[in-house]
Amino acid sequence: MKSPDLSVQLGPQNKRGLLLSNPLMTASGTFGYGTEYADIIDIQRLGAIICKGTTLKPRQGNPQPRLWETASGVLNSIGMENIGIEALIKEKAPLWAKWKVPMIVNILGESVEDYGKLAKRLDKVAGVSGIEVNISCPNISEGGLEFGAKPKSAADVTSAVKAKTTLPVIVKLSPNVTDITDIALAVEEAGADAISLINTLRGMSIDIKTRKPVLGNICGGLSGPAIKPVALYMVYQVAHKVKVPVIGCGGITSTNDALEFIMAGASAVQVGTANFTDPRTPLDIIDGIERFMKKEGIRRITELIGAAL
Ligand SMILES: Cc1cc2nc3c(=O)[nH]c(=O)nc-3n(C[C@H](O)[C@H](O)[C@H](O)COP(=O)(O)O)c2cc1C
Repeated sequence: MKSPDLSVQLGPQNKRGLLLSNPLMTASGTFGYGTEYADIIDIQRLGAIICKGTTLKPRQGNPQPRLWETASGVLNSIGMENIGIEALIKEKAPLWAKWKVPMIVNILGESVEDYGKLAKRLDKVAGVSGIEVNISCPNISEGGLEFGAKPKSAADVTSAVKAKTTLPVIVKLSPNVTDITDIALAVEEAGADAISLINTLRGMSIDIKTRKPVLGNICGGLSGPAIKPVALYMVYQVAHKVKVPVIGCGGITSTNDALEFIMAGASAVQVGTANFTDPRTPLDIIDGIERFMKKEGIRRITELIGAAL
């Protein structure tokens, strides 16, 4: 059997489109700007790379400690440390423009206007193929999760971004809500080209010697294998409700995990925390999916998307 077709279109309604050669993306905040991994793995084989969350101004992030290992997962409270949009455009985008792999910029604002400004600034930048709107960061006091917690504010941010860019717009949802499908429907209605989920689940750890919270920020976001069943169910629920492509994320470490998300309705998947253990994970998963498809006699990955719905 000749090589199966792993390509997926994540912006079918968008004029510019967002065509990936395969459904494996790296999750924001776990793969830097891509450049850090260019000498370690063949990053050009990835479906897409999503860079660290980016704000209008550079940010220092939260006090240390900001990363804590837990059973089957990691708590992080980085607090959006990043170089800011201007440095990203000046220093990173020119490198990305030479790459084959699509680069998606994850953005975060403190107000609806901030999101619009970030989108406008990125619109004509060579090397940027799409925007992922983070309305789901649990680690900062202003913005972030606040916008993702209610359908109205989530829709307002989505409309503000869509009004300022022709780039495909992915809106990234938080699991820290009562009903994620309400938020998904609201951002779809507001024009999101695709929806990614989930961001981290809020949690904490306590040091019994000091009798104090471990993280400098007290609360952090839980990621890794511990959250996979939660993420999978939310992807399944959202995929039932929306028509736009869904991108699954949360605890993916293996081919089987990725296939479960795809069968639950995800057109693509993001690998996050697993990159810290082995940055080769997404490439191994691409090979694994290809092997699975050959064994099962499946020609196109699209035949598997939503198979369990
Ligand atoms: C250290 C760290 C930093 C992160 N930074 C961001 C970020 O800047 N923007 C964002 O949308 N998500 C961020 N995330 C969330 C991940 O992109 C992903 O949604 C989450 O970790 C769940 O996937 P995983 O279990 O595969 O890690 C971060 C996660 C970690 C662990």
